[in-house]
Amino acid sequence: MTNQSNPLAFDRYAFGADFVWGTATAAYQIEGAVDRDGRTPCVWDTFGRQKGKIKTGETADVACEFYDRYESDLLIHKELGFNAFRFSIAWSRMLPDGVGPRHGGRINEAGLAFYDRLIDHCLRLDITPWITLYHWDLPHALELKGGWPNRKIVDWFADFADVCTKAFGHKVKHWIILNEPLAFSVLGYFTGQHAPGRRSFRNLLPVIHHTALAQAEGGRIVRQNVPDAQVGTTFSCSPIDPFTPSDQAAAIRVDALMNRLFIEPALGLGYPTRELPFLAGIAKKVAKPGDMERLAFDFDFVGLQHYFRAVVEQSYFMPYLWAKDVSPLRRNVQTITEMGWEVYPESMYRIIRQFGQYEGVKKIYITESGAAFYDRVEQGIVNDQARVEYHQNYLQQVLRAKQEGLPVEGYFAWTFLDNFEWAEGYRPRFGLVYVDFRTQQRIIKKSGRWFQQLLTKETFVGKH
Ligand code: GAL
Repeated sequence: MTNQSNPLAFDRYAFGADFVWGTATAAYQIEGAVDRDGRTPCVWDTFGRQKGKIKTGETADVACEFYDRYESDLLIHKELGFNAFRFSIAWSRMLPDGVGPRHGGRINEAGLAFYDRLIDHCLRLDITPWITLYHWDLPHALELKGGWPNRKIVDWFADFADVCTKAFGHKVKHWIILNEPLAFSVLGYFTGQHAPGRRSFRNLLPVIHHTALAQAEGGRIVRQNVPDAQVGTTFSCSPIDPFTPSDQAAAIRVDALMNRLFIEPALGLGYPTRELPFLAGIAKKVAKPGDMERLAFDFDFVGLQHYFRAVVEQSYFMPYLWAKDVSPLRRNVQTITEMGWEVYPESMYRIIRQFGQYEGVKKIYITESGAAFYDRVEQGIVNDQARVEYHQNYLQQVLRAKQEGLPVEGYFAWTFLDNFEWAEGYRPRFGLVYVDFRTQQRIIKKSGRWFQQLLTKETFVGKH
């Protein structure tokens, strides 16, 4: 069915019958109900209440009311034709004390029951649930005990993974350990733009190391409790280009930080200390004997979360990295999203190739990709043509990688519903479904209808 005369045209059959088509979401961004049925605050609740932390001054107290609306929302998801739904479990809804029973904490039965209902509803609709264990919502109770800089977090997280997999492992067979370790460690504890908003270099190495340990430890717990599970974890990733030929070394350093920092220890390759010498401080000052071996875990798949490429240049003002981003604006790039990110479809192909080159990477899923554009409702319709083109063009590059034999086996659009976009508030809309946050009305956007065509119609040809 591929239209040969049009290189942009494709249909779903080109991706193969087993290709996974999903959307990705995160508990904190959609659930709301932050103080209901025994849930306790997470770091984003407390961070968001501090003045100036969320650009729009908004909170996620209500968000998309997914906690109450999951049944009707998933009917829409079904209507769009997706066969997989990625969501995360709010740690403090399951374990209100942060710690689990092994450390004297309670399991919140009402929280457990919510996820149980959600999973059952997915299964009833023939939608495969993919669970992310950690999508950034650390219980505030654990932040009070030191958060990610405290080594005990590795045990606390293991407890949480243990409780979740024992509760749902008989029904859920796709597990993701962490969502983008780089983002929550660096933005949360070094630059302070994300919760818990701490800013210190002293914390950075311990946070990185504990996160990498938790990543592997979580993998081992899932494997042990759900032996027939597919276990993976996700990475934010971007091909890094030098601005001028003399910025090559800078690009190599940024690549080590942005793309290699968390996957290489998992693959048994250690931290990229040659390119980033400051990371040697982990082995010298932070790690305990035996840690370096514990960093490795044989994941069944890696999840790539890819949105944009980065172009960088040498900079003497940025300690440790000696490099900085050259913004799309400075490069005169016209195609940027509302987040200021460059739309550059070929970067999807390049990043799949880059990760596919690791011997230990067996399978790749694109666990997030998507774009925020300014959406308008006109006569009940959201005509988000730019988002249609984004997904179409990025998918085309996924297909190109697949046709070259790279093991890419699924695509999760970020995201199902417009939602709470962290420190940006509700303004950037990434959804395939528009949410009116005053009335909670849902409107399927043109991009949602485009996916529906692709996934459910026999006559689909990608180009519009
Ligand atoms: C990812 C994150 C998502 C979402 C998305 C768009 O980094 O995992 O939660 O916010 O970016 O910015």
